[in-house]
Amino acid sequence: MSAPSPVTVTVTGAGGQIGYALLFRIASGAMLGPDTPVRLRLLEIPAGIRAAEGTALELQDCAFPALDSIDITTDVSAGFDGTNIALLVGARPRGPGMERGDLLQANGAIFAPQGAAINAGAADDVKVLVVGNPANTNAFIASAHAPDVPAERFTAMTRLDHNRALAQLALTLQIPVRSICNVTIWGNHSATQVPDITHGIVTDSSGVPRTLPEALAAVLGSPGAVEAWLDETFIPRVAKRGAEIIEVRGSSSAASAAAAAVDHMHDWVLGTGASWTSAARVSDGSYGVDPGLISSFPVRSNNQAWEIEQGLAVSPAVQARIDRSIRELRDERDMVRSLGMVR
Ligand code: NAD
Ligand code: LMR
Repeated sequence: MSAPSPVTVTVTGAGGQIGYALLFRIASGAMLGPDTPVRLRLLEIPAGIRAAEGTALELQDCAFPALDSIDITTDVSAGFDGTNIALLVGARPRGPGMERGDLLQANGAIFAPQGAAINAGAADDVKVLVVGNPANTNAFIASAHAPDVPAERFTAMTRLDHNRALAQLALTLQIPVRSICNVTIWGNHSATQVPDITHGIVTDSSGVPRTLPEALAAVLGSPGAVEAWLDETFIPRVAKRGAEIIEVRGSSSAASAAAAAVDHMHDWVLGTGASWTSAARVSDGSYGVDPGLISSFPVRSNNQAWEIEQGLAVSPAVQARIDRSIRELRDERDMVRSLGMVR
């Protein structure tokens, strides 16, 4: 059997915190498998270039067998030339006194040219994951500037929220994360996101499946107690976990964000297996989400695109939460339109 072809992976913000956790996992083969050679392309701004160069020295010192080459650049076109996988991590953080519009405008100035460069020079099979916040709308901006790339190739990361939901459920049920599947994050990667356990399945050590609501009722005492726990504890904990990490750690999540980015791309390229996961992709109108918005859905990968899981029953309470998150995405879309960043 012939060896897999090398894959060119571009990481923006390579000199930052997430970059430092992400690049070593990509180079070790955790993202695409240990036998797939990787050509890393690190894209930074001048202020971050020394940190990216230092990271590249350490990558060399790891002597990863799958790592073919490392290129570092501040040139956006060179950064995406021929790239197969683009991880858009670098973004402008919210500074003191910055309004949401200022933040969107500052990020538009990053993601519009990056989208255009992907359109102009990336490989035909390019897959894009936006991590930098506000991730969904940054992906929307980048995609709008890449008219020749299918819109479903631009995704935003909600896998960290998905993983956070699994972890909170596992802690509550005192079972391993691997026993839980078919949990969903809907909407925006923000505090309005909707962690949803309605269709979750728990499989015990002897392989017997139960619904997640049943398993939670057995631990929490009753279906009513489950509802209260979801509303008062689980949903706010997952949706505000990013803020909790910032408060406790003093800076935003990095290793867990990098792990989630690896999970997202791994499953997109290599497949999701038996259960679905969560990712933000362009809406086709499913579940009442405006076509064109980049929203999180339950998804499975067919290697080309994340397919939205169809036909799931959504309770009125969950739908009301989804609608609220979609209103936020709509507001962000309207704001970037009114700022002239997309048409
Ligand atoms: P960081 O500040 O440590 O690093 C960001 C890096 O991006 C810096 O090195 C900076 O020089 C670089 N950068 C800025 N503009 C750039 C550009 N135009 N091109 C290339 N590089 C550029 O930040 P971090 O902790 O690595 O986080 C990065 C982003 O990820 C932030 O926006 C953060 O809010 C977001 N984030 C998202 C999730 C998620 O789940 N979607 C989770 C955690 C963090
Ligand atoms: C996270 O979910 O950890 C981040 O998106 C938080 C942030 O604002 O960087």
